[in-house]
Amino acid sequence: MTISVKPLDGPLGAEISGLDVRNITAEDSKALLDAFNAYHLLILHGPTITDAELVDLGRCFGHIEKARVKSPLSDRDDIMVISNIRQNGELVGSLPDGEMSYHFDRIHQAQPCKGAALHGLEIPVEGGDTCFANMVRAYETLPEATKQRIEGLKALNTFTYGATKRDGKTDELGPHAIHPLVRRIPETGKRALYVCRLMTDHIVGMPEEESAALLTELCDHIEFSGLIYQHRWSVGDIVIWDNRCTSHARTDFSDKERRLMKRVTIGDTVPPLQ
Ligand code: SIN
Repeated sequence: MTISVKPLDGPLGAEISGLDVRNITAEDSKALLDAFNAYHLLILHGPTITDAELVDLGRCFGHIEKARVKSPLSDRDDIMVISNIRQNGELVGSLPDGEMSYHFDRIHQAQPCKGAALHGLEIPVEGGDTCFANMVRAYETLPEATKQRIEGLKALNTFTYGATKRDGKTDELGPHAIHPLVRRIPETGKRALYVCRLMTDHIVGMPEEESAALLTELCDHIEFSGLIYQHRWSVGDIVIWDNRCTSHARTDFSDKERRLMKRVTIGDTVPPLQ
């Protein structure tokens, strides 16, 4: 059976059906990669799958990177557990707290990741949605004058472990990397805006106030111009995103409710191109 790819009625994304994750053929793998490049975000509904199956699915898009922290909820070091659950008083996963601002995974590294696949296992009754912004559209819909203004600029992106909002970051410069404000996606030649509210600290070589104002203008454009798809999770869903041309955020949820997700991180082989 061949898989079916149904574009969402929105700014990005496609729903995939007909895939047998226990038996992904070379033909399926190619169709998934083509859909990933075309729609930036893939959504699969289904029964929950094993960690090994999630890793196999992730491999359709590239090599799998290790998780930063190993969790007691997986015996694999390439499964990142994202959860607020505690065992014996200790958190079993990363990113436990509610709302998270828009970010790109691992943008603070010289080589950020290409994408990720996130699998929903326990979902709060309310909130904890993951929101995705189409960064190709974000670039394309900028005013021409802004496109010219940001051409050739670079920004410094930082990471403060555990910070989920910009005001939760410390002043100390943590791991960081400088990347172009606009990056080209090798497979499509399209250009994508590459800044985010959570991790982009400042524009290199620009006076502080001017840089802060320009970043706010760009982030407002990304978040408030109809470029967002908001995913309301059901148990068993898998969402796969292209981390080069989407940024993502999470809505708030109650700390009284359990949320358990497992993620594989898909590695890239080329740093962000100008
Ligand atoms: C992430 O940023 O990878 C986590 C998103 C989520 O928990 O919904």
